[in-house]
Amino acid sequence: MQLSTILLAASETASANFLTPILVMAVIGLCLSLLLVIAEYFLANYGECKININDEEERSFVTEGGNSLLNILSDRKIFIPSACGGRATCGFCKLKLPEAGAALPTELPMLSREEVKNGTRLICQVKVTSDLNLHIPQELLEIQEFKCVVGSNEDSTHNIKELVLELKDPDHIGFIPGQYIQFQMPPHIAKGEQRAYSIASTRNEDDGKKVILNIRWGFGGLVSTYVSTLKPGDEVIITGPYGDFMEAETGAEMICVAGGAGMAPLRSIILDLAKKNSKRKVTYFFGGRDQEDLFYLDTWAELEKSMHDFSFVPALSDIKDDDTSWTGERGFVHLAVERYINERCESDPEQLEGYLCGPPPMIDGVIAVMTAIGVPEEKIYFDKF
Ligand SMILES: Cc1cc2nc3c(=O)[nH]c(=O)nc-3n(C[C@H](O)[C@H](O)[C@H](O)COP(=O)(O)OP(=O)(O)OC[C@H]3O[C@@H](n4cnc5c(N)ncnc54)[C@H](O)[C@@H]3O)c2cc1C
Ligand code: FES
Repeated sequence: MQLSTILLAASETASANFLTPILVMAVIGLCLSLLLVIAEYFLANYGECKININDEEERSFVTEGGNSLLNILSDRKIFIPSACGGRATCGFCKLKLPEAGAALPTELPMLSREEVKNGTRLICQVKVTSDLNLHIPQELLEIQEFKCVVGSNEDSTHNIKELVLELKDPDHIGFIPGQYIQFQMPPHIAKGEQRAYSIASTRNEDDGKKVILNIRWGFGGLVSTYVSTLKPGDEVIITGPYGDFMEAETGAEMICVAGGAGMAPLRSIILDLAKKNSKRKVTYFFGGRDQEDLFYLDTWAELEKSMHDFSFVPALSDIKDDDTSWTGERGFVHLAVERYINERCESDPEQLEGYLCGPPPMIDGVIAVMTAIGVPEEKIYFDKF
């Protein structure tokens, strides 16, 4: 036998030896996958489950088990607040549900000890595997889905878009200032993904036929990036209204503080007070880095003239000492608030009310100075995002 023939035979034997374990592993893998599919079919087939809502037959329904309770309800147009879109990070989708078993480890960071004890669950984490009895508060049952068309989507600043949505079906939304909507991503792009956005319009603006949003974008976020690409005429779906940022109206002086897209609920709240000819004293502090971060300046200038007692106080943290073009407050906004309450405010701090919205460090800073001066914690209302 020639040397080349011997070498060829040897190499064939070697590659056969090499291929055999790979083939065996592939066959084992295939068998295991098949077993999993069969097991999933028999074990995860929970059959039909009855979802009883508030003991009302007309609301209750039967569904196939296996999906999350949040999704099952949403498919039936029952919308529970779910600002993070089911990622267990907002803690908004709580319902008392002892029969669904103990909370999962993913839920625990969002639940108090008391809630864990009384069977409260994040329903985005509850897989429906048996019949369930739910108690859903009436105000949540009134949340609706709205088909909208984009009216405009303009830059308010370098990183904030003002998105105007025209409501088509239904064509009107009733809400209170400070509430928010949830924006649903188109299912073909990111099914089930939704995010909360505060309503910047007032209930009187365009008779509730438009919803204005201020959306911060430019950091690579899924929904904010998508929203930044929307053009007039594009169709979108929102649900709402949700939340209750604005408390019952008193006559107390209001300290409003916002930064970035935190502008939205404050715009709604303040324009609503203006429309009602409110006699409350309102001082609105808005924090940013430089003048590029400021927006709606014409609105605030107009309200300073037309409202009973309104002032807009922008505070900019990155203005250079020698920049004389800026005559407003310098430094972080919480320090401007502190100076105002200590030096110029005529109300007793105990009587003040705080309405704050913006990035968490800003809100934490404002809460710290306000409570240190004596504003009661329970009179400070805030949303951090
Ligand atoms: C009640 C409520 C009201 C809200 N109202 C508004 C509003 O009026 N306007 C508005 O713009 N947002 C608002 N938000 C925040 C909004 O819901 C989204 O969380 C935000 O748009 C980010 O979503 P995303 O899908 O773009 O980013 P994701 O894909 O969810 O996040 C991507 C990454 O970006 C980070 N990230 C998230 N937000 C920011 C941010 N602002 N800056 C830098 N990094 C960030 C996240 O930690 C994550 O790592 C509100 C939130 C709540 C709970
Ligand atoms: S925790 Fe956000 S939707 Fe459930």
